[in-house]
Amino acid sequence: MTGIIDEDKERVFDRLVRLDPSRHYKGTGLGLSMVKAILSRHKATISLHDNNPGLLVNIHFK
Ligand SMILES: Nc1ncnc2c1ncn2[C@@H]1O[C@H](COP(=O)(O)OP(=O)(O)O)[C@@H](O)[C@H]1O
Ligand SMILES: [Mg+2]
Repeated sequence: MTGIIDEDKERVFDRLVRLDPSRHYKGTGLGLSMVKAILSRHKATISLHDNNPGLLVNIHFK
């Protein structure tokens, strides 16, 4: 996996969104939406950033 471009960093949290148009990578597109929903029950937030290369995931517990 090579990271996520800025314009997709929010919509990957929507249910069933998969960015790879050729569906080369397996998955349902549900993982990040579930993570965000669970974190919200714990009053935590999640945000995605570039790790150059790859994806940096920031989880913040208030
Ligand atoms: N670490 C990552 N690096 C690059 N793209 C990612 C990464 N994690 C998720 N994605 C992209 O976001 C989409 C949605 O991810 P996710 O909600 O976790 O779905 P799944 O449950 O199928 O893993 C993936 O299909 C992929 O295109
Ligand atoms: Mg996933």
